[in-house]
Amino acid sequence: MVAVRSLSKRFGDHTVLDAVSFSVAAGELVSVIGPSGCGKSTLLRCLNLLEVPDDGAIELVGHAIDRRGGGRWRRRDNAAAHRLRAQVGMVFQGFNLFAHRTVLENLLLAPRVVRRQRPEAEAMRLLDKVGLASMAHRYPATLSGGQQQRAAIARALAMTPRVMLYDEPTSALDPELSEEVLGVMRALDADGMTQIVVTHEMRFARAASDRVIFMESGRIIEEAPPERLFTSPADPRTRRFLRTEL
Ligand SMILES: Nc1ncnc2c1ncn2[C@@H]1O[C@H](COP(=O)(O)OP(=O)(O)OP(=O)(O)O)[C@@H](O)[C@H]1O
Ligand SMILES: [Mg+2]
Repeated sequence: MVAVRSLSKRFGDHTVLDAVSFSVAAGELVSVIGPSGCGKSTLLRCLNLLEVPDDGAIELVGHAIDRRGGGRWRRRDNAAAHRLRAQVGMVFQGFNLFAHRTVLENLLLAPRVVRRQRPEAEAMRLLDKVGLASMAHRYPATLSGGQQQRAAIARALAMTPRVMLYDEPTSALDPELSEEVLGVMRALDADGMTQIVVTHEMRFARAASDRVIFMESGRIIEEAPPERLFTSPADPRTRRFLRTEL
């Protein structure tokens, strides 16, 4: 579903992603963990082409995108990039809902819902899925953080993505509210959604992931099923990080 090969990204002379390679199978939930500044957000932003990588290749739902003819990645005039982005739903730490629109209107602004036969019924189905059907007509400011984040997930789903990317979706939330959001992600996993989650919630990473990727200094140090990564990490850097986190 997702294949990243030798992806590199530099800001000036700072190499933020250094030849990162990994793949994610359809239906997998993969967590990405690692210290602050190691490049997790940049990696997600590259997958969505919010950042243009300097080198490497991304293949997403069968669309490959890479450097053309030895040149730099191009964001514009690249139909493949556009198709790729349309397949990816992204949820950020801050919920990024439109404040002056109701929850339902936020979903209806997603263009692909509008093109359906009964956009409102479809939007309500998604709100029901994240447990917010009763809040459809409320404004984001009147919702809890966890409810806003679930609305943001429903809005991303309204674009009918094949892959969902999350950048610390619960880091602004109290533990209880964060549990609601993680529950929605578990339910999507049960539905077969492919998900990549940058998270500092080690308990979630351990309990819900099919695989965990540990990054440090722009590289993937280790990736393994959660039981193995959390109980017997192979690399001393992983061990050191987990000691500080757990
Ligand atoms: N637009 C940018 N311009 C210059 N440097 C940047 C830019 N975006 C990120 N960086 C740098 O790239 C490095 C990786 O940042 P990134 O946000 O990917 O880290 P992160 O792993 O997500 O950290 P955190 O856990 O704190 O969110 C950092 O050193 C950051 O300062
Ligand atoms: Mg980050």
